[in-house]
Amino acid sequence: MKRTKVVDALRSTDVNKDILVKGWVRSHRSSKAVDFIALNDGSTIKNIQLVVDPSTMSEEDLKSITTGACIACEGVLVESQGKGQSVEIQSKNITIYGLCPNDYPMQKKGQSFEYMRKYAHLRLRTNTFGAVFRIRHNMAIAIHKYFHDHGFYYFNTPLITASDAEGAGQMFQVTTLDLDRCAKEGKVDYDADFFGRKTNLTVSGQLEGELGATALGAIYTFGPTFRAENSNTPRHLAEFWMIEPEIAFMDKDELMDLEEDFIKYCVRWALENCQDDLAFLNKMIDKHLLETLQSVIKEDFVRLPYTEGIKILEEAQKNGHKFEFPVTGWGMDLASEHERYLVEEHFKRPVIMTDYPTEIKAFYMKKNPDGKTMQGTDVLFPRIGEIIGGSVREEDYGKLTAEMERRGMDEANYKWYLDTRKYGSCPHAGFGLGFERLILFVTGMQNIRDVIPFPRTPKNAEF
Ligand code: 4AD
Ligand code: MG
Repeated sequence: MKRTKVVDALRSTDVNKDILVKGWVRSHRSSKAVDFIALNDGSTIKNIQLVVDPSTMSEEDLKSITTGACIACEGVLVESQGKGQSVEIQSKNITIYGLCPNDYPMQKKGQSFEYMRKYAHLRLRTNTFGAVFRIRHNMAIAIHKYFHDHGFYYFNTPLITASDAEGAGQMFQVTTLDLDRCAKEGKVDYDADFFGRKTNLTVSGQLEGELGATALGAIYTFGPTFRAENSNTPRHLAEFWMIEPEIAFMDKDELMDLEEDFIKYCVRWALENCQDDLAFLNKMIDKHLLETLQSVIKEDFVRLPYTEGIKILEEAQKNGHKFEFPVTGWGMDLASEHERYLVEEHFKRPVIMTDYPTEIKAFYMKKNPDGKTMQGTDVLFPRIGEIIGGSVREEDYGKLTAEMERRGMDEANYKWYLDTRKYGSCPHAGFGLGFERLILFVTGMQNIRDVIPFPRTPKNAEF
């Protein structure tokens, strides 16, 4: 007999017919006359109830089916007598695939997320993580669909590079050299390394993305990026996934329109396609989740120049608002508490902050005529802070190389990049969305380590 997924069994109207389901036991209750087993196979947050007549199997086998065990059940799909489900399965025969001894770390309900992180290989089997990773999958589909439908090409940029796209120096080196030997010899010979030069894992696909956009018109990347920043926060990972669209002939206003339309599309997609999982998270994780998601798609994002933002923060501080990092005035980089103040308390909706001081942003951003600011367009979100970092790119060869020189960057490493400005340069713009920050927002989870299956953070690379 062919297996039916639990999600399909629960939707089925084919009652009083034989059915075969397979999955993991979520709970097992016994009474004298009948046993109830809640079975889940990952296809939905919901369990199917198996109703087992104890006389149909040995007492010992029946007792051995504990939380976490893997079984198959053949039976008849029937209308449910009980509350909470419309159908259930009257079991005829149960096959045990794998018993689950009672030291199973996910056995108890209500364990803390911190505890479960130690068991990232098993936490996937819990309701919360099942919901989170089904939503994560759905968001990936939404992203590809959005860009495909809007005429963008999916463009793959290298993971191993010789350049620092953000110029922030937070890179993981990639080498096949024997470091112990280098230490003994007291020198490193990069000519002898695999690529014949020093290389690292990419911090962003943007620079190569610009090569794609200035040929194909509009591209997007969707891949892992790596940052060796020693940030132990609920919003930073050393390995995270980023979506980076890059578009030729796009100006700042069009870029902000795209950022807003894209992110609203993703949130709407979740509301339409992940209803059961969101309802669960709304109940268990964040009572305001659905409300927050709905309000984000309804309201226009505020568009706020950095200079105005600083004035608002200075005013708040003057009026007694206590920031952990005091607002020091124009030129300061914003911490997430400042971003969240603007979004959550001042405007009460998402903010696109624009025109940042040159000194706190990357070298490639287009300079404004004031000589002090650049055309950055970061999107700041409730609960998250910065969710998107974007900008119009400097397309002028002379201005770009002057900025690189001012920052002490080695132009020789970026010759290929500068060729876009040398040969048929065009105005263009793009942004990067942190995938896990989007998942954090959509799921209501608090810690970024809980929205990627196997998180990589300082001192933690298990699994
Ligand atoms: O602001 P960032 O550093 O911008 C870039 O990398 C640009 N090259 C993007 C572009 O214009 N194509 O990073 C973009 C986004 C951030 O807004 C944030 O959502 C996410 O990536 N991000 C991180 N997410 C998790 N862990 C980290 N350590 C992150 N660093 C950035
Ligand atoms: Mg940024």
